[in-house]
Amino acid sequence: MRSVTKDNITEVFMGYLSDDTDPRMREIMGSLVKHLHGFAKEVGLTHEEWRAGIAFMEGCAGIESEDRHEFVLGSDVLGLSSVLGPFHVSGAPPLEVGGDMKRHYGGPILLAEGVIKSTDGTPIAGAEIDIWQTAPNGLYASQDEEQDTYSFHGLMTVGDDGRYAFTTVKPVEYTVPSDGPVGDILRACGRHPRRPSHLHYIVTAPGFKPLVTEVFPDDDPYLDQDTVFGVRNDLVMHYDERPAEAFPEGMALSGKVNEPFLHVAFDVTLAPED
Ligand code: BEZ
Ligand code: FE
Repeated sequence: MRSVTKDNITEVFMGYLSDDTDPRMREIMGSLVKHLHGFAKEVGLTHEEWRAGIAFMEGCAGIESEDRHEFVLGSDVLGLSSVLGPFHVSGAPPLEVGGDMKRHYGGPILLAEGVIKSTDGTPIAGAEIDIWQTAPNGLYASQDEEQDTYSFHGLMTVGDDGRYAFTTVKPVEYTVPSDGPVGDILRACGRHPRRPSHLHYIVTAPGFKPLVTEVFPDDDPYLDQDTVFGVRNDLVMHYDERPAEAFPEGMALSGKVNEPFLHVAFDVTLAPED
């Protein structure tokens, strides 16, 4: 068709796809283009606004690097993706059950523990839990030259009882990077870049679907306004404060804690593989 207009462009686009286009590709491109054209028509997109959109994407590409994933961040703040986050460093060193991630860092001690189990409640022996969080300055190791590569990262393999346990510093709320194009969008929309404090977990075991998740304390002021929409009711946990004398045996810090500490019990359930 030669007389392409804004009224028939979507149809013309579809007509350009060859008959042997992969059906999934056809479905995705067809829907994408339909919504893209519909969006531009609905808002009456001006050339200047289109240019600003292109500049946004160019800006994201310009600062994209191994440690800075601006497109992922953009996708997260728009509510299209969430959970893993752009700061996970794979290959964390092993952390024994009861191990300590806090090390020399200041801040309240948090003892986190729980059982990794299947949907019928049976502990999953040998499950792996990959744990990560920010340092007390609100920065992940990958964002902060002052930290070791794997600080506040640990990979734990649980025993027959399925129990994981570790000490760390109480996670802090932090801001996602806002000095790039995504920060500009947040400000233009009157939004803040804050996330409620949380611990990240990736839990895996043979025969089960991997779980990528994060857990949040129930008293965090940003629980209802997470800039990347990661909070779910079943991911909210409660810290209780315990006296130093209540610190249990069997932990790397046993016998070394002489201040009140926070404790949280949070079990993790894995669904079987299909
Ligand atoms: C995070 O929790 O690490 C995160 C998630 C999405 C965007 C930025 C950070
Ligand atoms: Fe995070």
